[in-house]
Amino acid sequence: METVVEQPTVAMPRLGWPAPNFEAETTHGTLRLDDFRGSWVILFSHPADFTPVCTTEFVAFAQIAPELKKRNVELLGLSIDSTYSHIAWVRNIEEKFGVKITFPIIADLDKKVAMLYGMIMPGESKTETSRCVFVIDDKGILRAMIYYPLTTGRNTDEILRLIDALQTTDKHGVATPANWRPGDKVIVPPPKTTDDAEERLKEGYECKDWYFCMKSL
Ligand code: BEZ
Repeated sequence: METVVEQPTVAMPRLGWPAPNFEAETTHGTLRLDDFRGSWVILFSHPADFTPVCTTEFVAFAQIAPELKKRNVELLGLSIDSTYSHIAWVRNIEEKFGVKITFPIIADLDKKVAMLYGMIMPGESKTETSRCVFVIDDKGILRAMIYYPLTTGRNTDEILRLIDALQTTDKHGVATPANWRPGDKVIVPPPKTTDDAEERLKEGYECKDWYFCMKSL
């Protein structure tokens, strides 16, 4: 007989919609997501304090923090651990790795934020958040989500690249191709009418065809 596995119904945030607001206890005191309005936010979860992969990630996030600041991006960490645990862990990271963690970390002991954002993958762990990244823009709109499993540390170069791509899209009204890096050519959004398709070819873009045009910024 076929076994039916019960799938729990969980909230999932949606790209392009306002990121769900919350108030949470953090290592910097009580914070609300909307306190960050006017800045971009990278809200990211890790499975647990004092674990090795998470420690490498915290060191890596701390290392890109100055580059993120230049782009008006704030970091906000989260796990289902207490503020005491977070404080002890960041002190340990500074002592053992010489890296200061300057961003706040949410102590989501009641899993309120984790449930709101669908950060718990019960198939992996019912008690830990997976490695999730939510990019929220300066108007509070959820712009990107990345989900990684417990055993794979994230790539902070890719997170920085994603911020650059999103901010380039906003500034210039363009899209970015696969493996794009700042300075590379960008994609001119495809035309929506036959007249636009005709015009497009006269506009001096580098076009392979009417639907595929690139330009330098
Ligand atoms: C770690 O951060 O090392 C880790 C955490 C949870 C599961 C596996 C690895």
